[in-house]
Amino acid sequence: MDPIGNFFVRREGLEPDLPPILTGSHLDSQPAGGRFDGASGVLAGLEALQAMDAIGIETRRAIEVVSWTNEEGSRFAPGVMGSAVFAGQSSLADVLPLKDPKGVVLEDALADVMSMMETVERRKIGFPVAAYLELHIEQGPILESSGATIGVVTGIQGTRWFEIEVTGAEAHAGTTPSRMRKDALKAAVSIIAAMEEKLADDADGLRFTVGRMSVEPNSPNTVPARVVFSVDLRHPDAARLKSASEAIQAVCRGFSGPCSISVRETVNMDPISFDAGLVDLLDKAAGVLALPSKRLISGAFHDAKSMHAVSPSAMVFIPCAGGVSHNPNESATAADIAAGTRVLALTLATLANLANDRFRE
Ligand code: HGY
Ligand code: MN
Ligand code: MN
Repeated sequence: MDPIGNFFVRREGLEPDLPPILTGSHLDSQPAGGRFDGASGVLAGLEALQAMDAIGIETRRAIEVVSWTNEEGSRFAPGVMGSAVFAGQSSLADVLPLKDPKGVVLEDALADVMSMMETVERRKIGFPVAAYLELHIEQGPILESSGATIGVVTGIQGTRWFEIEVTGAEAHAGTTPSRMRKDALKAAVSIIAAMEEKLADDADGLRFTVGRMSVEPNSPNTVPARVVFSVDLRHPDAARLKSASEAIQAVCRGFSGPCSISVRETVNMDPISFDAGLVDLLDKAAGVLALPSKRLISGAFHDAKSMHAVSPSAMVFIPCAGGVSHNPNESATAADIAAGTRVLALTLATLANLANDRFRE
């Protein structure tokens, strides 16, 4: 484990000093999460290594399986935290002071986890990685509706998160006339409605979600004085994502009600395109295994986004029932998980035995 809690399992190679091939995903989940988001990628990596052991494959490079800390970012924002610290896009100093909605400090929560893993060897943060592959459920409807078993992921759409704080004033629900109220919740509701209207997209390509809202003092007979709500914006095109982000900030600036509004950006992930050479290799692996495959962009963000900055990276998707995810009913079939694992194993073994180091396209 490294100091941010990323957990690695290493299968040694014949040339231990070469940068390893890395695969894996995350084991953290959502408050109403399923059992396959993240976990299927960690277990597929372990299964690939066990299969190599079972048939005695030796590889030039070591292959490591990783479970990244806090990919979701639901409790401690931002997400992809462990992989971002590993890849140098964030630091322990940046993240350890962060607090969850109940005020728990990340440093303390992490210490609790690490104290349960005292027998696990420690390693420093970050090391050179020759290539990174991640298996994940698609979390959307494309593969299932197209009949493809394997998703060859060409990139990840962009994501922006904002925290919007609306400040009014407590007042008595029974005695205070409307003209004297500074009602933070009614202001928040009209701001969200104005955002929805401004972001209307006939192409249905822009994703706009308000997933969390806190109301204070949260009492039926007191006018709300403070509301904090989240905004999650996603789009494959950087310019379109930027204009949507500017639009929601303009709505907040232009709000003329009696409350004050503050906007804080907490996540800003540009869209990325994965390494073309790796994407081609995954296509070939699916072909060799005679599995129907389809290229697609990921609507969800993943740790592969962090790894993309430091090593050639790519992802392989498998379908999930109804495209449902971040939901306890999330599910994938054993057959699809096995098929995805075979594509992962074949590609990992190929990369780990490449005679040269030509990983980039
Ligand atoms: O939100 C996401 O895209 C990821 O599932 N954490
Ligand atoms: Mn995930
Ligand atoms: Mn998720």
